[in-house]
Amino acid sequence: MKNQYRKILFLTGAGISAESGLATFRSENGLWNNHRVEDVATIDAYYKNPDYVHDFYNNMKPELWNAKPNPAHLAITRLQKEYPAEINIVTQNVDTLHEKAGSKNIYHIHGQINQAVCMNCRHVLETWGDVSSETICENCQVQGMMKPNIVFFGENLLYMDKVEDLLRTSDLFVSVGTSGVVFPAASFVQTAKYYGADTVELNLEATSNNFYFDKHIMGKAGTTLPKFVEELLSDIKNS
Ligand code: APR
Repeated sequence: MKNQYRKILFLTGAGISAESGLATFRSENGLWNNHRVEDVATIDAYYKNPDYVHDFYNNMKPELWNAKPNPAHLAITRLQKEYPAEINIVTQNVDTLHEKAGSKNIYHIHGQINQAVCMNCRHVLETWGDVSSETICENCQVQGMMKPNIVFFGENLLYMDKVEDLLRTSDLFVSVGTSGVVFPAASFVQTAKYYGADTVELNLEATSNNFYFDKHIMGKAGTTLPKFVEELLSDIKNS
């Protein structure tokens, strides 16, 4: 580990939002809000029954609208404000808690709950309201082609060009609250390491990506991440 970094990349997963009361994906019962992920997060499920999938995400919106950022989200915002480096956040989460915490440079590679995308013209609609197969695209006026802007299994991730650049150029890669089982996000740490970054994992439990991290900080992110940020800031002061 170095005393000072010039470019820091955070990869966050559902675990960073757990202490805000939001469900993680691979909890003990393996269901996500009582649904199998395969039933609501695949492109086949969407084509088979678009309104079933729309309803699942519509019903999730009020909880995510009301959710509040926790000390883990706020710790990254503090680092962005106080640490003299470029600090980016690549998140797998579809909630907007990083934004609510006042962070910037946020890339939602799996999409966002408050967006829908038109499969006819690719226009992105920002809305916390319900979207259905009746919704008319505000851009091309076509009806029935709006899909939740959630990256389903089998679809390409968003912002991948930017992510690849960040993985090549960051000298500290910090993974927070992800199980490291869904690719390609699970392979980001290997790329970061290959390009020379120091790698740190903050998670409640050991993950399958163990080998690629230089440092493991176990525990709840709401406690461990503020402490880690404090250490990064004091390293600067002492250097
Ligand atoms: N603090 C830190 N880590 C936590 C906390 C917490 N308070 N609570 C849970 N965790 C850890 C869990 O131990 C687990 O390893 O967070 C991780 C969450 O893992 P998943 O539920 O698999 O969520 P995630 O890694 O974000 O899933 C990745 O899979 O289903 C897809 O698209 C979906 O973005 C999601 C992707």
